[in-house]
Amino acid sequence: MKRVVSGVKPTGDPTLGNYIGAMKRWGEMSRDPEREHFFFVPNLHALNVRPDPEELHRLTRSAVAWLVACGVDHDHSYIFAQSQIPAHSELTWILNNYTTIGELNRMTQFKDKSLKQGPEGQLVGLYDYPVLMAADILLYDADEVPVGDDQKQHVELTRDIATRFNNLHGETFKVPQPTVQTEGARIMDLQDPTKKMSKSDDDLSGCILLMDDDKAIERKIMRAVTDSGSQVTAAADKPAVTNLLVIYSVLSGRPITELEEAYAGRGYGDFKRDLAELAVHALKPLRHSHEQLMREGNDKIDKALEHGWWRASELANAKLGEVKEKLGLI
Ligand code: TRP
Repeated sequence: MKRVVSGVKPTGDPTLGNYIGAMKRWGEMSRDPEREHFFFVPNLHALNVRPDPEELHRLTRSAVAWLVACGVDHDHSYIFAQSQIPAHSELTWILNNYTTIGELNRMTQFKDKSLKQGPEGQLVGLYDYPVLMAADILLYDADEVPVGDDQKQHVELTRDIATRFNNLHGETFKVPQPTVQTEGARIMDLQDPTKKMSKSDDDLSGCILLMDDDKAIERKIMRAVTDSGSQVTAAADKPAVTNLLVIYSVLSGRPITELEEAYAGRGYGDFKRDLAELAVHALKPLRHSHEQLMREGNDKIDKALEHGWWRASELANAKLGEVKEKLGLI
């Protein structure tokens, strides 16, 4: 059976972009009986921004709750937190010796992030981030790693590390494939369609959070910028309307061409009103189910984590044992 591994970082409350680009699809994928899915929360990765401990704890549990709310079937797939499985850290240390400084220097995400930090923020944990990610993937013999475009380079590095280790020590790791979703993979900010919808912005007026209430969702969509002209069509010179069409299409399951026809000659106002209603309707049940899961006394999250931990540790410990033996580690 093919294995699929992916992670959702607990660094902020998820956005509509995270939902459309990843979590919604994971919910659907997790029901595929031909594949075994592991969706985990990389809370060790999150340490490189030195988060507030209480907030990290809340966001980690909240990420699990969002996965469950988005339909990830936690009976047939596995949800866990990275820190529950020490093998992730241990394999990282080992793989550090199969990764060169030159390779890490080439990682564009590190370059971007470290440029934004002063020397105080340029932590080894940020630099080594891709090696921890390689460990996350290689511990489980993942065949497929669904990621956003910005993570493809990290999966490619994972492939190089795995191949190098295999060449030196014999077949040990499966060399994984990144699977980059194209449809709806990049949802843009509603106020500035040239940048990705992101929770790390101070100004959230163009970013819909899954936690937003009906009023906020409606307001953000009604105030979304549009392009010149009045036709509801997807085109390169209409980035704002195209983005709204993508959101509409993914949430309704209707192809963009059908929506263009339906709104021909009707202008942006009508279109936005319908989209707002659709989004409110689509997100409400997720928000309610998340609220329920986070409620004190509800042990569903703990149950999901225990189930995930059980299967993930079984695989991770076996793989780590094999690696240690090959390296002569007692
Ligand atoms: N780096 C990923 C991100 O920023 C999260 C992540 C960590 C991940 N480990 C992973 C994704 C392993 C896939 C597989 O989104």
